[in-house]
Amino acid sequence: MDNTKIAAILGTGHYVPKKRLTNADLEKIVDTSDEWIVTRTGIKERRIAAPEEATSDLAAEAGRRALEAAGIKADELSLIIVATVTPDTSFPSTACLVQKKLNAGQVPAFDLAAACSGFLYGVELARQMINTGSQKYILVIGAEVLTRITDYEDRGSCVLFGDGAGAAVIGPGKVSGHGIIDCIMGADGNFSEPLALPAGGSRLPASHETIDAHLHYMKIQGRAVYKLAVTHIVEVVRDLLARNQIDPKAIGMYIPHQMNLRIMEAAADRLGITMEQVYVNIEKYGNTSAASIPIALDEAVRNGQVKNGMDMVLVAFGSGLTWVASLLRW
Ligand code: UT7
Repeated sequence: MDNTKIAAILGTGHYVPKKRLTNADLEKIVDTSDEWIVTRTGIKERRIAAPEEATSDLAAEAGRRALEAAGIKADELSLIIVATVTPDTSFPSTACLVQKKLNAGQVPAFDLAAACSGFLYGVELARQMINTGSQKYILVIGAEVLTRITDYEDRGSCVLFGDGAGAAVIGPGKVSGHGIIDCIMGADGNFSEPLALPAGGSRLPASHETIDAHLHYMKIQGRAVYKLAVTHIVEVVRDLLARNQIDPKAIGMYIPHQMNLRIMEAAADRLGITMEQVYVNIEKYGNTSAASIPIALDEAVRNGQVKNGMDMVLVAFGSGLTWVASLLRW
């Protein structure tokens, strides 16, 4: 690759299941209200996968759309990465199932586990591999069927999550200096407890007891996660922009992980930016973990809000803890 050209997002796509679960529907399931959910989270509805749909189905459809947008054929790919915490099965990886669904030949494929930060972790990996010239086109997908690990008896968490998938084809950029410019990733395993799926792994294998105790569902300590999210999002964005000597106000669009409108507003306030700079679609999909940023990015691209030459920051925070921010020039 010509060394003035950098890795870039060549095409995006997303897919969400048809079925909507509205706040009014949730009022019938748990002791909650549309008013509480909208005021505390900004969410109005979320999508739910059909019983026969699994993560690889959503992922493959999002991937297909991203490939089409990029004008790249599946067999031209050199790698497929699927970021997910809700794989179809522990193994084989969801990425291998997606490879088959896309007829991508024998292209290498693997899953990446970094929760809500997974998609941007994958994009960073792809960027490095493309910039070194070791790979040409990499399909990065964030896909989740979170409703399968959501406890619909826990009103503190079940109102938050939805299903969906988003994807991006990363490859050599066509215009000098346009593409993925920089990225900072972080993690802190000391805070692994406030956001976790306790059972089903080697620590607590599935048993009648784990099922009876609802341990195969996500457990969240909402307040604690809220505060950690605002702190880390603000810090990683500040660090990324400072080292690139860009004023936060000069960024054309921020796409934060859609976990709570109030978290996005609090972070925007601390960064001294306006909500006009922040892309928000949480009202339609809720929190879709690794899928949320690529879904939002694809929407923003397709509805014409992403302009040529625009500087963008994509920022995620999630279980692990993990966090990551990427700087792009479109
Ligand atoms: O991607 C990472 C995963 N996302 C997260 O971990 C979420 C991060 N946290 C949050 O988004 C917010 O903390 C929540 C939306 C989960 C909760 O909002 P909050 O403003 O932090 O509320 P709270 O947890 O302090 O609860 C306030 C009250 C409590 O009642 P009391 O103790 O004040 O009487 C809760 O029991 O709201 C009650 N409550 C609800 N009421 C109606 C909690 N969930 C609900 C509900 N409907 N769904």
